[in-house]
Amino acid sequence: MENLVIDKPTTPLQSKAAPKQPRRILVTGGDGYIGNVMVPRLLAEGYDVTVMDAGFFRAAWLFQDGLDRAPVLTRDTRSLTADELQGFDAVIHLAELSNDPLCEHDESLTMNINHHGSVALARAAKEAGVPRFLYASSCSVYGAAGDEAVSETSPQRPQTAYARCKGLVERDVGAMADDHFTPTFLRLATAFGASPRMRFDIVINNLAGLAWTTNKLSLSSDGTPWRPLVHVRDITEAFVQVLKAPRERVHNQAFNVGADEQNYRISELAETAAKVFPGCAVELGGKSDDGRSYRVSFEKIRRHLPDFECQWTAERGFRQLRSLFEHIDLTAAMFNAPPYTRMRQLGVLLHTKQVDPQLRWRTHAIL
Ligand SMILES: NC(=O)c1ccc[n+]([C@@H]2O[C@H](COP(=O)([O-])OP(=O)(O)OC[C@H]3O[C@@H](n4cnc5c(N)ncnc54)[C@H](O)[C@@H]3O)[C@@H](O)[C@H]2O)c1
Repeated sequence: MENLVIDKPTTPLQSKAAPKQPRRILVTGGDGYIGNVMVPRLLAEGYDVTVMDAGFFRAAWLFQDGLDRAPVLTRDTRSLTADELQGFDAVIHLAELSNDPLCEHDESLTMNINHHGSVALARAAKEAGVPRFLYASSCSVYGAAGDEAVSETSPQRPQTAYARCKGLVERDVGAMADDHFTPTFLRLATAFGASPRMRFDIVINNLAGLAWTTNKLSLSSDGTPWRPLVHVRDITEAFVQVLKAPRERVHNQAFNVGADEQNYRISELAETAAKVFPGCAVELGGKSDDGRSYRVSFEKIRRHLPDFECQWTAERGFRQLRSLFEHIDLTAAMFNAPPYTRMRQLGVLLHTKQVDPQLRWRTHAIL
């Protein structure tokens, strides 16, 4: 697959009077894992925030953090119109099916929500006159990239429907960029760390939960694949820095979000977990068919957004999770509960017919 995102602005921005800083922010999918760390931080920065989220994972509330939250409107991004987006200075778009297994489960549904839904949302935002559109893309667009570190201009070799959709959204929304509409694509490394709306289906959180509840880590692979990782609070910081940046610096740009030192092999992560959770045994598996392996360069974000610097290493993240588990007395039943594994929770919602096969709520029809 070709590199889909343009690294340079497609149309040079006219220099006019200094545009106003974004203040009113809409966060789609803001009631999920990343959103529940991001929104309190945006509020603390003084932004006026509204969240729109379908609410698929509301049952996944692991702990209370006592922080302020923004109003959450239950909306499906597939149905949002330009009218509902009037008056916002920026959209931060997080609302998608959020990982590979979830998206392999039903590829056409994934295309529907993650590709077409996101492009339609960007079009509606542009029509409503929203000047900034910040998109949560993913380093998984690089796919099978080998041992060399890839940059924003490297070819994309997405291995899954999830990753393909991220590249397609970048391509199609990038084509909408003009003097009045500035999209920015934040290609996030795999997230980790504590969020009240927890996920245990992402690598560090999963390893930490397994280490705590079973004292054993049995990897399904030989642990050699590379993964870049980034703490959920550092992700939030990257979005804040993009909001604060002069428009021309982030106009129609893709940024890898993470840090060079935070490219890890999976085996290294398991060893770090075993260090932080004493007594935990690690067993490596055999070579796996999973072709996903990529090392990523984060030089560009450092250059364009010099105030952005990751504060969290994997080890610090494991320690944060261990403190949290001690604090809330995490049990195996809590760790294994469906809501914390996004695909299982959607399975429950489908099986109990709370949503239809297109993931539209149907509960209201039976009440
Ligand atoms: N967590 C990561 O490691 C990671 C890495 C790279 C990119 N991302 C991207 O960041 C975004 C947020 O990820 P997350 O980890 O917080 O996932 P999450 O599943 O916890 O949150 C996604 C939120 O979007 C909502 N949503 C899904 N489809 C929707 C729809 N059609 N309409 C309205 N709301 C909808 C869900 O209800 C959920 O609250 C996603 O786009 C994901 O692909 C995440």
